[in-house]
Amino acid sequence: MKLQHVYEAQQFTLPKLLELFNLADDMERIVNRGGTKDYQSKIMASLFYEPSTRTRFSFESAMLRLGGSVISTERAQEFSSVMLGESLEDTVRVVGNYSDVIVLRSNEIGGAKRAAEVSSVPVINAGDGKGGQHPTQALLDLYTIHKEVKTIDGVKVAMVGNLADGRTVRSLAYLLGKFERVKLYFVAPPALQMKQDILDYLARHNCWFTLESDLKKVLPEVDVLYVTRIEQEVLDQHEKINREIASSFFINAEMMKLLRPNGLVMHPLPRLSEIAPAVDADPRSAYFRQTRNGVLIRMALLVSLWE
Ligand code: CP
Repeated sequence: MKLQHVYEAQQFTLPKLLELFNLADDMERIVNRGGTKDYQSKIMASLFYEPSTRTRFSFESAMLRLGGSVISTERAQEFSSVMLGESLEDTVRVVGNYSDVIVLRSNEIGGAKRAAEVSSVPVINAGDGKGGQHPTQALLDLYTIHKEVKTIDGVKVAMVGNLADGRTVRSLAYLLGKFERVKLYFVAPPALQMKQDILDYLARHNCWFTLESDLKKVLPEVDVLYVTRIEQEVLDQHEKINREIASSFFINAEMMKLLRPNGLVMHPLPRLSEIAPAVDADPRSAYFRQTRNGVLIRMALLVSLWE
């Protein structure tokens, strides 16, 4: 199956996911050999309307490892003609004349899909708006589970934090819902729980899920603990969620005792205080390994869009 653009996680079929994982394994071998020059004629444009460290750098690193080149604006809101009132659509039409793929972080939900509708080259959603999607983060998360838990069928995953606005957990739920016997535990204060559109999708796909607010109860049951931030501005908006409630979702050495010996702790990063630095040395902490997988899966995705 060939994808023309990547704007949402629902686009990926199971065979496509497995194909990408195999390709990402090949990419690891290529990176270990020092990269390739096979894609030296290709140019990737990265157009970021919101800040990013991991997504932008890992896509750019992926492109360079493939032998290609990068043109980039990391603050498109200020340093592109958007500043003069140019529409996203016009910008994408023009940038498509300068590049072979556009990696777009939009500040609007649906921005990547709008861009894909007018683009002459593949558009990849690098995160769109608050509560939108981040499909390539979900791909690298799923690839990490595939590598470290070994099987995705039957996996039990707790997603914790601000699930209402979190685009990474939304995209990951879409992908996990495609596998067999997966169990999803959404752990958040009620105001920040996973939105109904995702719950409806999971119900339609016969994927088991539960809404919880007590992390200590859930931790011993799961294979993967996927932690996300609860930002200070979100706490400020929701008077009933005070710092004490938010901190009951924080992971420290005591909480780690409740996780299985072979469990995984994942986080899309950046983190605030939701995972104590003391937890980093625990071999179950996979969040920095996730970032390396991000380069491999993004290399695989770029190659699969061009072949
Ligand atoms: N995980 C992630 O999207 O990080 P960045 O915002 O740094 O790209």
